[in-house]
Amino acid sequence: MKDFSKILLNWYKLHKRVLPWRDIQDPYRIWISEIILQQTRVAQGYDYFLRFVKRFPDIDTLAAASEDEVLKYWEGLGYYSRARNLHAAAKSMKGVFPTTYEGVLGLKGVGEYTAAAICSFAYRMPYAVVDGNVYRVLARLFGIHTPTDSTEGKKEIAALAQKLLDKKYPDDHNQAIMDFGATQCMPQSPNCQICPFVKKCKAHAAGEVELLPIRTAKVQTANRYFSYIYVKQGTDTWIRRRPARDIWQGLYELPMLETPKAITADDLKKTDFWKNTFGRKSPLLVQGPVKHVLSHRVIYAWFYEVQIPPASAVAPGYIKVEASSLEKYAFARLVQKFLTTQK
Ligand code: ADE
Repeated sequence: MKDFSKILLNWYKLHKRVLPWRDIQDPYRIWISEIILQQTRVAQGYDYFLRFVKRFPDIDTLAAASEDEVLKYWEGLGYYSRARNLHAAAKSMKGVFPTTYEGVLGLKGVGEYTAAAICSFAYRMPYAVVDGNVYRVLARLFGIHTPTDSTEGKKEIAALAQKLLDKKYPDDHNQAIMDFGATQCMPQSPNCQICPFVKKCKAHAAGEVELLPIRTAKVQTANRYFSYIYVKQGTDTWIRRRPARDIWQGLYELPMLETPKAITADDLKKTDFWKNTFGRKSPLLVQGPVKHVLSHRVIYAWFYEVQIPPASAVAPGYIKVEASSLEKYAFARLVQKFLTTQK
């Protein structure tokens, strides 16, 4: 298609969203914004971005911070490995942001998409971004039926995106195609009536706009069942760190038992976990089931309360903290939501 970039950039001039990570050249800030936006929508990421760069305005400040504090600023955003990778990458930079595509791609947590975004925005290097938005826009405009989650489909779209890229304005071109996908050529009910490509769009001509892009593999979603215990020991409560190699690694949680299926308070009381931790006390159900949807799994959570005498010792593996100071610790959003109902 000739004129692709010209039409796109004209559209962008009219519809551009003003965002705090745009029209800047600072690779550090662009990097932070792109990591946030990897799995978070602009509306949600906006305030997180501003808070994050206010507290950690440069590489050295981020590198010098504790992982706990970095996670605290990430609390509620999900996919916490992003925050741990940011922190690790900042430490590896020794104060200088890499200036080559390979250098940027070598950062922890940075894949091809993010490297292309950073290098085009900060350095105006001619690398086309390819994300879900770009797949959708190009699959529709060019009538591509190759599944976008196949190796072949990925290659095809990446090559096309690179060919279409405006090598003079790779920054605006990349920002524009993302906005176009996010606000015009959306997954559901795209705005074809006012689309500047409508006469050229293969999907539109074929009545396939809602069909494209095609995906094959269905992501398996597994259900998980968590029973959380909110310990009341005077004004104290118990928490612990999440185990490694599972969701929410590095965050804190309340004492919790995971079971292969849903259980009742009676079932819970009969488990070794309960007997070893709380003896003959009884769990009191406060909330549940709470359904919490993550990308690859659905969590069903129950929140119980148990009263412990002030004198008894904290069970091994837990930390006793003042309930009023729980704010200092980063929890998964599911737990944090529960805690805010307990104030
Ligand atoms: N999503 C990912 N990167 C983005 C950006 N720079 N602007 C808007 N949305 C985005």
